[in-house]
This record gives sequence, C-alpha cells and structure tokens, in this order.
Amino acid sequence: MYLTREEERVLDGFEGEAKALAMKVVVRVGEVLGAEKLVPIKNAHISGISYKNIGEEGLAFIEKLAGEGARFSVPTTLNPGAFDLAGWQRMNVDEKILSGQLRIIDAFRRMGAAITLSCTPYLYANISYGDHLAWSESNAVLYANSVVGARTNRDGGPLALFEAIAGRAPLAGLHLEENRRPMLLIDFSSVGEKVVEKGIFSAAGLVAGRIAGATVPLVKGLRFSGSDELKLFLAAAGATGGTGLVLVDSISPDLRFAKWNPVEGIERVGVEWSTLQEELERHSGAGEGVVVLGCPHLSPSELKDIISWLRRHGRPKRRLILFTSRAAVGEAEKRAAEEAGAELFTDTCMVVSELSKYAGREFVTDSGKAAFYLASQGYLVKLLSRGEALKYALGDSA
Ligand code: F3S
Repeated sequence: MYLTREEERVLDGFEGEAKALAMKVVVRVGEVLGAEKLVPIKNAHISGISYKNIGEEGLAFIEKLAGEGARFSVPTTLNPGAFDLAGWQRMNVDEKILSGQLRIIDAFRRMGAAITLSCTPYLYANISYGDHLAWSESNAVLYANSVVGARTNRDGGPLALFEAIAGRAPLAGLHLEENRRPMLLIDFSSVGEKVVEKGIFSAAGLVAGRIAGATVPLVKGLRFSGSDELKLFLAAAGATGGTGLVLVDSISPDLRFAKWNPVEGIERVGVEWSTLQEELERHSGAGEGVVVLGCPHLSPSELKDIISWLRRHGRPKRRLILFTSRAAVGEAEKRAAEEAGAELFTDTCMVVSELSKYAGREFVTDSGKAAFYLASQGYLVKLLSRGEALKYALGDSA
C-alpha cells in the first residue's frame, strides 16, 4: 500500500507508540480490504462504548490506549452509553456499571473526544457532501452516506477508534465512488402512499434492509417529508441489512451528481403491502407496555413536536420514555417534557441501557431498529407509527 511520508513517520513511532499502533491497525485493515492508499478523515464517531455491552475487557482496552497517550487527530464524538449522566438515579443503575461507564467516558475525554453520547452526530457535526469520515454507528453511517453524501464505511467501534487516532481510513468500500452505485432497485411505488399515510417508515426500512442485505440499493416510491422520517427508515434498514448506503430517490446527493444511469441494468424488487404487514406482525409482541421513543435519538424538533402534542391531547396514562441527546435539550426542555407527562433521558438509549431495571419487559415503539434489537434481547415489543404510539400512551389500545 502506498503511504505518504507523514504516514510512514507515524508508523515509525515519531508521534508516539499509541498513534503508531493505530496507524498499523488502519494500514493492516486497508491491506485486507485491498486499499491502494489511506484517505485523511474529517471526523470520527465511535459506537460500542456502553459498559453494558463492552464490560471490563472493553474498559481495560480503552483505558490502556488513553494511558499510553493516544489522542484523537480529528473531531471525535461518542455513541450513547449505559445511562443518563445526570439522571442515572432514575434508572436503577448498578454500582459496577456506574463506575465502569464513568471510567470509559473519562478515558475518551482524555483522548480528546467530545462527550456527546448520541447516535445522531449528523444533526450536529460539521460534515458535508464528499467529506471522508470514520463512523461506526449504523444509523449514523447510513444517514451520512445516504442523505449528506459524505463517505464512510460501516466501521466497527474499535476500527473507528483507531482511525480517529490515526486521522486516516483505508481508501476502500464506500470511500470509493465506484462502490456507491446501486446494485438493485427496491420499488415502494405501489405502497408508498399508504406508508406515508400510516407513518410506517420504520416497517418500510426493515423491509428495505432485509432485501438489500449488504448491497447498495436504490429506493424509489417513498415520499419523506423530512429528516425525522429518513432517520427512522434508515436506522431500520441498518438493523436488518448490512449496507452502509441506501440511495433514496430525490434525496441522496450521489444520485444528483451521478454521471451514470442509476437504474440501468439492475434488478428491480417491488414491495407489496402484504410484505409490510408481515413486517409489522413480526413486531407485534407486546400486549401492554411502556412507550419508548427516540431510536435514533429524537432531534430537537421531534422533541418539541411530541411535547406540544402531549400538551394538546393530555398527560399520558401509560409510561412514555423519550431518549434524546444532551445537545438537543436544556433545563427548559427537560422541565417541559416532565410537565407534559413524559420521562426524558439523554446520553443513553433503550437498547444500550439496562431497560428491564427501570422500565420492565414489554414495550411499544415507533422504531424498527429498537423493535429489532429489543426483541433480540428477549423483550416483548410492538411496533407502531409514532402517532399510534402516542395515542397508546394516552390510553388507547394498541
Ligand atoms: Fe441510537 Fe440506541 Fe437506536 S444508539 S440508533 S437509540 S439503538
């Protein structure tokens, strides 16, 4: 692999052992991927930082790196952790998780990460079309590639960590123009109206992910009215599929700037209403449950909409838990959510916290990604549209 003089210097340890190790890992991964060279990255986002998921081993690995002087070379943000840093008392967090998570966050802080603890870095990061990134949260990767037109592979957390230290990623996969073309067309034209009317973008995303697998699809026939629906759709597609890019008709910048015909010579798969119904039935587990919204983390505007909806319709009769990022809320928003009858958590989410410790085992959500992962953790989950989930929180039957 071709390396610049600067990259060789880092590899030879002139900028410290920790950075040399990071560069070595990135080069090795690049060789495996067949990359001809590395590409400088503008930004990194690291997932897999919840003590609940990575435990003592993960903590030891991160503390060792920080202790050896590893520092991030680019602006670096973090995915949610195991609890709300300011509200952990409400989450029945056990002592071991509390201290382990705080030590993980402290080690990342020493390495220079911004303690954002959110899975929606695309709402806050300074990124644009054509930027190369090293991101490792699937919904964030999908949004960055598909909606912003930035370039990142769907990295694992440890690789993104090393790329952030090295400031480089292998020039391979979705960093390369030629790998960003669609391999198949997923056509929602016959059901698009109904998806919009019923607000079941999560179900459509789960279906799209199952069809796409690890390939780049082109999605047609869905009308998104804004980024919130795209967030739900892409996060769900990332849960059932391994792809890091979904080209969405009329949305994805790659399609706007394409010099090729996106549908030429590719297979078409039409989605029928029965397929969407099957997907909803797959996630119809819970009879009675706590309503959990905010996977991916609610944006400031989503939060505002939910609070004003509750003010208009009344306080929920069932528990309603909202997850968002610390960047989205100040004290005023927290108070407003509480006054409207919702519980609000930042820094964590329903999947990476110990949900059973503070909210039971049955849930209603509007998130296909949450439904998918909570079911895999043994919870009973029902997937509804956001409107239906909110009505359910008020007392309607599911
Ligand atoms: Fe975010 Fe947790 Fe969902 S990290 S995308 S809220 S599973």
